[in-house]
Amino acid sequence: MTFQQARWDEPAVWDLTTSYPTSPPPGIASVPERFRRKRGVRWPEIAEPEVVRHYTRLSQMNLGIDTAFYPLGSCTMKYNPKVSELLARRPGAAQVHPYQPEATVQGALELTYRLERLLSRVTGFPEVSLQPGAGAHGEYAALLMVRAYFRDRGELDRRTEILLPDTAHGTNPASASQAGFAAREIPSKDGCVDLAALRAAVSDRTAGFMLTNPNTAGLFEGEILEIAETVHTAGGLLYYDGANLNAILGVTNPARMGFDIAHINLHKTFATPHGGGGPGAGVLAAGEKLAPYLPVPRIAKSGRRFRLDYDRPRSIGKIKTAYGNFGLDVRAYAFAISHGEEGLKQVARRAVLNSNYLGVRLGKLLPRPFRTLVKHEFVLSGTPLRERGVRTLDLAKRLLDEGVHAPTVYFPSLVEEALMIEPPETESRRELDRFAEAFERAVSDTPENLHAAPHHLAVRRIDEVRAAREPRLSWKDLRTAAVNVETPGRLAAGDEGSSPKDPGVAR
Ligand SMILES: Cc1ncc(COP(=O)(O)O)c(C=O)c1O
Repeated sequence: MTFQQARWDEPAVWDLTTSYPTSPPPGIASVPERFRRKRGVRWPEIAEPEVVRHYTRLSQMNLGIDTAFYPLGSCTMKYNPKVSELLARRPGAAQVHPYQPEATVQGALELTYRLERLLSRVTGFPEVSLQPGAGAHGEYAALLMVRAYFRDRGELDRRTEILLPDTAHGTNPASASQAGFAAREIPSKDGCVDLAALRAAVSDRTAGFMLTNPNTAGLFEGEILEIAETVHTAGGLLYYDGANLNAILGVTNPARMGFDIAHINLHKTFATPHGGGGPGAGVLAAGEKLAPYLPVPRIAKSGRRFRLDYDRPRSIGKIKTAYGNFGLDVRAYAFAISHGEEGLKQVARRAVLNSNYLGVRLGKLLPRPFRTLVKHEFVLSGTPLRERGVRTLDLAKRLLDEGVHAPTVYFPSLVEEALMIEPPETESRRELDRFAEAFERAVSDTPENLHAAPHHLAVRRIDEVRAAREPRLSWKDLRTAAVNVETPGRLAAGDEGSSPKDPGVAR
């Protein structure tokens, strides 16, 4: 199968507009004068078929989970079941307003309550808050809770350090520093936490240790009980980054491993959309030490009634509007109950099986720096490609030409030229075989082809450094700066001016 992505010369929706509404909208008379705009808004006015075609064409210039296998390691990019979408769009879920009187949203509150209980069983922790909007948000909120806990114990001035392994995701140190702690790295040994180094690092300055298990090298931290004991003996707390929960779902849980608090990314483990940086859910589950500090409101049940409970004096307070991303809660609940307890265990087992199947196949093409048997994801190193002047980035771009998404690259940072691959349970053996064949073609391609890839996408190779350093975030800027699609990585002549319709505009 040769892949060729659609390539439309698609203007911004604003540029499709030829007219703007001139008359006030129907029903305006019922809006009090003081709430009305003084000047009209130039919303685009386009016929429905044009709008549908515009967005459909844009979607065709994208690789998404519904069009391609998405082996992005550490991200658990699962297929999002359509039944969960259907349920989330039912009026009872989609049209409730967060500030409706509680008596009128009992069903929504019951669903969130039930999801909390379900996630309590999954994590082993008694209390759950669905509020945080992403994993990183959950981390940050949890570290505010850690601060509050040590403040109450009179230890905050002393406990200033958060420890992290060198396999940690970048959001971990970022959250630690945002929450006012100093982040301190602990080295790994053979891909897992070096227990001796951890023992040497803990002290009465330790506020906590953040860890994901299995870790981002796909390895289960087998010394987790010793790790927990080490941190606890020093008076610190153990934080479970739940990004990799998919690998242990229903098989074990963070409470049993000795953690004090965890976040769960519903958009990973519970198959809700990642949303391109949009809505996510970084649910927090806490053990007894930290539960009183969970954000408000909590859901309380008395008899058969549910209510939002703000009366939690030790809570860190409110961290998000309303009660989190309710639409995601509906999808996650649908995913969980459609699997049932045994089904969730199968999710974990199958994800691990997929990862080992693909890992063994691809391990014949590139070296695997860590053990052969892994959990839900594995790491390869692209260093042998260097002999041909090829980098991991070239391989990742070349894979796009096969119609699949690229793996995570250059992470974890302890592996040179890393490629990190996660084939979740929703992928069939046929899809895995297809990916393995695509990978083989890409690895054995010529350096010239690899350097110039992608060849078959709507947007060719962009200058990623410049895109990161000088991002153009406004559609007006996009109109004035066109990337030359034929000369990868360079801006077209007349950058600041003339070519508003170049489809290569990538930023
Ligand atoms: C190990 C790990 N921790 C934390 C995060 C952050 O989660 P989120 O993207 O939901 O903020 C990720 C995201 O991929 C991750 O892989």
